[in-house]
Amino acid sequence: MKTEVVIIGGGPSGLLLSQLLNKAGVATVVLERSSREHVLSRIRAGILEWGTVELLREAGVGTRMDAEGYPHDGTYLTDAELMVHIDFKGLTGKQVMVYGQTEVTQDLYGAQDAMGTQVIHGVEEVTIHDLDASEAAVEYTLNGERHRISCAYVAGCDGFHGVSRKTIPEEKRREFERVYPFGWLGILSRTPPVHDELIYSNSPHGFALASMRNENLVRYYVQVPLTDKVVDWSDERFWTEFKRRIPSEAAAKLVTGPSIEKSIAPLRSFVSEPLRWGRLFLVGDAAHIVPPTGAKGLNLAVSDVYYLHEALIAALKSGQTAGIDGYSERALARIWKAMRFSWQMTTMLHRFEGEDSFAEEMRRATLRHLADSETARKDLAENYVGLPF
Ligand code: FAD
Ligand code: DHB
Repeated sequence: MKTEVVIIGGGPSGLLLSQLLNKAGVATVVLERSSREHVLSRIRAGILEWGTVELLREAGVGTRMDAEGYPHDGTYLTDAELMVHIDFKGLTGKQVMVYGQTEVTQDLYGAQDAMGTQVIHGVEEVTIHDLDASEAAVEYTLNGERHRISCAYVAGCDGFHGVSRKTIPEEKRREFERVYPFGWLGILSRTPPVHDELIYSNSPHGFALASMRNENLVRYYVQVPLTDKVVDWSDERFWTEFKRRIPSEAAAKLVTGPSIEKSIAPLRSFVSEPLRWGRLFLVGDAAHIVPPTGAKGLNLAVSDVYYLHEALIAALKSGQTAGIDGYSERALARIWKAMRFSWQMTTMLHRFEGEDSFAEEMRRATLRHLADSETARKDLAENYVGLPF
């Protein structure tokens, strides 16, 4: 088989890249390890930056998002004593969209089906070859049979545990990592949100986040030790803990109910450089991970896709290679800024076990500075709604 771009990974970055490339007349094959049902069952991000919203519209997958998503004008940050409103709209003129990653992925699968693009599920033992030759190749096993696709370029959209990053020789990679000593336990529940905007709460009992998907579906999180397992957390224990970590006015309005999903995600900051190795380009979680506190993971994958789709179209349609040559540097410039923001939000809003009283006062002072300074709130809002592509 032969195509122009083989895309490894059918998560949000792989599907969006395939969608944008096919719209521009570039042929792709997407290779995904899991079934479509499995990809769509993973509950992850919930907040889209406005640049993401606009790119999804441009890709032809904005209709359901515009009908069913919820634009938000701001968010709340709080500790036990103070509640600070960050007015995104007033400070930056921009909003964010509450629309789950699962919905984005479902819309992308629908659009790919409609265009008749090739998305192959259930592939195993994917290997990447000839990245420094005039034509690259990707091999995989499907139903016990080995296949080979030759192509001009390979997009590694296969997440943190994928094969693409590891195909770049170890001595040619620079990796930067910070692992945080806690995770987030998240639940989905068919109950009304405690508030009409998100609340990021740094309480004496640890961090909690009140988020949502719609007027009768909430996504709530609590900070938990890395040693905790999902089975340690009955619904009852979750609700008790969540309630004492959110501001009392919100707690008074809390409606509880059975959880329909419950999972724990560890928090990590990670970047692997470079993003290009010959004919291979890394995109999204394959190259970088942010802690979820700034709602940046999915959005950062989308900005990589934005840069790469432009670059691949220019290379394949007009023979212009400046875009692919500059992809790594251009994408990394934005990635590092999102790394900084996510790290800063994480540090400001979480208690770290064994920390000293100085660290606690720094968090207090940061929140008080945000309350008093419009400049500080504007800086946070500018990053949260998303830096320009
Ligand atoms: P992925 O979504 O990881 O997709 C990669 C795809 O590649 C997967 O479908 C996988 O099956 C496939 N794959 C892997 N290896 C291979 C292989 N060898 N061959 C073929 N296919 C392969 N971000 C937020 O902003 N907010 C959140 O609340 C949030 N929660 C998260 C919770 C969890 C548990 C995780 C893991 C991430 C979370 N994120 C969150 C981050 C966000 O979901 C990711 O940034 C986003 O999914 C990145 O998209 P991606 O397409 O690059 O990678
Ligand atoms: C959600 C997740 C986040 O990490 C975040 O910062 C905001 C919202 C969510 O799942 O809704």
